[in-house]
Amino acid sequence: MLDSASNRPELPPEIARRRTFAIISHPDAGKTTLTEKFLLYGGAIQMAGQVRAKGEARRTRSDFMKMEQDRGISVSASAMSFDFGKFRFNLVDTPGHSDFSEDTYRTLTAVDAAIMVIDGAKGVESQTQKLFEVCRLRDLPILTFCNKMDRESRDTFEIIDEIQEMLAIDVTPASWPIGTGRDFVGCYDLLHDRLELMDRADRNKVAESIKIKGLDDPLLEKHVPADLVAKLREEIEMARELLPALNPQSVLEGHMTPIWFGSAINSFGVKELMDGIAEYGPEPQPQQAAPRQILPEETKVAGFVFKVQANMDPKHRDRVAFVRLASGHFERGMKLLHVRSKKPMAISNPVLFLAADRELAEEAWAGDIIGIPNHGQLRIGDTLTEGEALRATGIPSFAPELLQTVRAADPMKAKHLEKALMQFAEEGAAKVFKPNIGSGFIVGVVGALQFEVLASRIELEYGLPVRFEQTQFTSARWVSGPKLEVEKFVNVNKQHIAHDHDGDIVYLTRLQWDIDRVERDHPEIKLTATKEMH
Ligand code: G4P
Repeated sequence: MLDSASNRPELPPEIARRRTFAIISHPDAGKTTLTEKFLLYGGAIQMAGQVRAKGEARRTRSDFMKMEQDRGISVSASAMSFDFGKFRFNLVDTPGHSDFSEDTYRTLTAVDAAIMVIDGAKGVESQTQKLFEVCRLRDLPILTFCNKMDRESRDTFEIIDEIQEMLAIDVTPASWPIGTGRDFVGCYDLLHDRLELMDRADRNKVAESIKIKGLDDPLLEKHVPADLVAKLREEIEMARELLPALNPQSVLEGHMTPIWFGSAINSFGVKELMDGIAEYGPEPQPQQAAPRQILPEETKVAGFVFKVQANMDPKHRDRVAFVRLASGHFERGMKLLHVRSKKPMAISNPVLFLAADRELAEEAWAGDIIGIPNHGQLRIGDTLTEGEALRATGIPSFAPELLQTVRAADPMKAKHLEKALMQFAEEGAAKVFKPNIGSGFIVGVVGALQFEVLASRIELEYGLPVRFEQTQFTSARWVSGPKLEVEKFVNVNKQHIAHDHDGDIVYLTRLQWDIDRVERDHPEIKLTATKEMH
């Protein structure tokens, strides 16, 4: 049978009830608080305040180091599953700090939708915009939560206009705020004609919800001061005239975002948002792959690795590969084909991440995220199937924006350093290049904070103090082209050539001028700033 909204076959109920999404926001907008309330309503935690004490962006260096020591916790926070009504939500965490944007990008390849959180007083901020653009590349459906309405916030129309203009997306109000700042009393739920009243006394209490028979219902005056009711009626009339009505298909295609107003810290508007995710958020979607796409309803299991976290237990050098299941019904103990190595892998200890706990995953369905402990066989971009040679595509690796050489304080430990660096490269925590000339390695990252985190992890996990130093190079490009041309190019540019951890050839440059020169002198050679992970 066809599902009328998406024109696709109806999914098996276990798959259809899954909603896999990430939260995108500018630091401080309230992502952590909202996550916590999600888990609270999902029954995954008993009390708010358990997810993380502080938002990531405001973490100082020492917070990061501490986080590294507490990896068990930070990892389980990378993907969280919980039930909400008849739905299973899989929330995948994205690092808030822009220095980790590559990680964020990959995470967004593993979800079917994003929740965009904005601060009602600040509107669309720089990081919101950047992350939004990434979602747009994949036409991800986006639901918006305008947070901190308990504080003085901007005019509702102004906020909506700003999103429409800055992000070029239609915005439709799912709720409308009543009053602002200290006078904020709650919202009118436009989708269900309900009045939601905020309780300032109990931050974890779900708002009182009163069924209203439309805007002329005198019940409104009973609960809301008359001047605010008048304003609400006027604004909603205007909104209905000026703003587009909710079109679920347009939401699924990523052209329209419904917006809910609320206050995460007061648990206000959160349940309505969750209902919205259940109702308008997409079911697990087809996965781009070569030579064909993977459909969630296929009975055979397929999945791909979008994140690797190493050394969760420094004593055991183990790693967890986070796998998004793209199709089928997975059961513990299954033997899957590791497509890159063409070897079978028995998946005997897969884990599911239920809030603060890890649990053995006895089964999982398309849409779920499972963690597979392994000794390094699984890398970002790898595909697992029940036998077919499929390769998930669209999981890129970006050229780093900052390069430094790295040296072990003890020169005798060069081999150990190499091992550590390869591990981090495979984990996706940094790019590691071995120059053709000279010894040592060049490490490339997107944000400076990554160097600090790397240095501390190498010391903590391998007992190796290291130094990062300036290099003459400023950027790196992957080299491709006809074999003979590439050989010729490598020969005449020896001092610029290195290999990445996969053995692929990289051209290290000092200036954009170098790149322009290559393009002019070697028209057959392609220099690219991204490469597909394989
Ligand atoms: P982030 O993960 O997006 O960085 O944001 P986080 O949830 O950490 O929230 C940032 C700050 O905003 C926190 O305050 C948090 O308590 C506050 N906040 C979140 N939601 C609301 C809301 O609905 N209304 C108001 N008024 N504040 C909200 P903080 O003082 O910086 O940190 P904390 O000491 O409360 O942890």
